[in-house]
Amino acid sequence: MWLCLLLLMAACVPATTSSPGIKGRVTRSALEYGRRFGLELLRSLLQKEHSVNLQGSYQAPLLGRLNYTVPQIHIHELQMNDSTVDFAEDVGVQLTVHRARIQLSATWQAQLGAWQDSGSLRLRIRDLAVAVLLGLGADEHGHPSMWAAGCDARGTDLRLEFRQGQSWLYNLLVPLLQRTLRQQLNKQLCVEIQKGISRLQDSLKDVQVSAQLDPFAAIDLSLLGQPAITKQHGDVGLKGEFFGVHGRWQSPFSAQPVRLPELQEPMLLVAVTEFVANTAAFVYFTAGALRRNITAEMEHFPSRPVELHLWARRQPLLSCHPNALHGALFGSAEAFVVLPNATRVPAFLLNIDANVTGKPTIAGNRLGGTVGLRSLSVVQVMSHVGPLEVGKLENMLKFGLWLFGVPWANKRLRPGIPLPTPHGITLLHPRLSLHEGFMLITTDLHYEP
Ligand SMILES: *[C@@H]1O[C@H](CO)[C@@H](O)[C@H](O)[C@H]1NC(C)=O
Ligand SMILES: *[C@@H]1O[C@H](CO)[C@@H](O)[C@H](O)[C@H]1NC(C)=O
Ligand SMILES: *[C@@H]1O[C@H](CO)[C@@H](O)[C@H](O)[C@H]1NC(C)=O
Ligand SMILES: *[C@@H]1O[C@H](CO)[C@@H](O)[C@H](O)[C@H]1NC(C)=O
Ligand SMILES: *[C@@H]1O[C@H](CO)[C@@H](O)[C@H](O)[C@H]1NC(C)=O
Repeated sequence: MWLCLLLLMAACVPATTSSPGIKGRVTRSALEYGRRFGLELLRSLLQKEHSVNLQGSYQAPLLGRLNYTVPQIHIHELQMNDSTVDFAEDVGVQLTVHRARIQLSATWQAQLGAWQDSGSLRLRIRDLAVAVLLGLGADEHGHPSMWAAGCDARGTDLRLEFRQGQSWLYNLLVPLLQRTLRQQLNKQLCVEIQKGISRLQDSLKDVQVSAQLDPFAAIDLSLLGQPAITKQHGDVGLKGEFFGVHGRWQSPFSAQPVRLPELQEPMLLVAVTEFVANTAAFVYFTAGALRRNITAEMEHFPSRPVELHLWARRQPLLSCHPNALHGALFGSAEAFVVLPNATRVPAFLLNIDANVTGKPTIAGNRLGGTVGLRSLSVVQVMSHVGPLEVGKLENMLKFGLWLFGVPWANKRLRPGIPLPTPHGITLLHPRLSLHEGFMLITTDLHYEP
């Protein structure tokens, strides 16, 4: 009794899993759109030849035991007009087909004592109902997974006709045989559906859950736990964490939970949290990608070229707000005077901090953006050339950033990162909005197999 109570309490305490960096929601309108493809899939699974190996025996009055086998069936026609698809709470998706028509042929062999016979048969079912419950989940490596969580197939209006052999004899037995056959066939349809689903599951194991974006960084898009499925929508959480191509450094960030708005219209909602951007900044910073050398002319050193080495002193910090993305950059700049023999003589070292704003954009299947400079401060750390006019330098650097830094960043951001879309799916009329802590993309989907 106490043990039961303890177990119940343990089950009620939510497991402490980390929040997803990217949260996706599939709405009912996506399911409705996907129904067509679900039916097409079901048809492709069923409308062909199947090895069934049906075996049975029948105690014929006076004649003795009749054994029969049906090694193969061939489904010629499958009409499924009346169908619905729904979310099945906490499980996955339920596809239901009513009043489907199915026509199939099969070969048969029969044995009655020492006497053998064979021929073909035709079977027509006019009121077949099929209900398939597809379980959706994630495996321990964050790959999506699916399984047949339930299957039921029923047909009652079944017409059987034997051809060839001593068919006249068997046709006399048809009313009796139909019942057995109906039971076997109903079972067999589900066996075929289950086989098809497990073949799909096998192909899901190979789905890529990370993508390399450039020589420095890749993004981890593995699923964080099981999808949350309600009557209205299915939610999935993706890790959404950048990692270094040359080392999987542990970033100091953790994603905050996201509440998606209740929208029915778009098929798909995707929230990308500031966690994703911060892990990206962390990876580029740690990989040493946030460095830049600039050669410039300076009034301070007439007739000598000056080389500026710029680098990120700390990792940039990014946050998302309803009006814009905000970024805080912490840089250092060291100036060198370049002598005619190419020797660099250190001149001064500055700390340069800047606040930038960003406007993300979405184009096709890629998420990009542009940045702008909001404020800049310059502090002199060290100088071998006497005190510097920091105000003047600030202006010069604003100009330099405007001329080099911002275009450089924009050039890197513009191609964007690919959004994780399954093969054959493109985004239709995607829209992007900013919220506290995350950026929301809402879109319809278009599927072209
Ligand atoms: C399926 O729909 C088509 C067109 O809507 C119709 O011609 C056909 O008779 C329907 N079949 C069944 C079995 O309802
Ligand atoms: C029919 O099958 C049963 C077992 O299912 C077997 O015992 C019997 O010998 C078979 N009869 C013939 C005629 O093959
Ligand atoms: C900048 O110049 C220094 C000295 O020439 C060099 O060691 C460094 O690799 C350069 N950095 C970049 C990012 O080009
Ligand atoms: C470059 O020239 C400077 C002064 O003209 C000199 O001190 C330095 O040793 C030279 N460096 C090299 C590598 O020749
Ligand atoms: C950037 O913004 C923060 C907070 O708004 C502020 O504390 C900081 O001084 C700003 N930095 C610069 C370089 O303007």
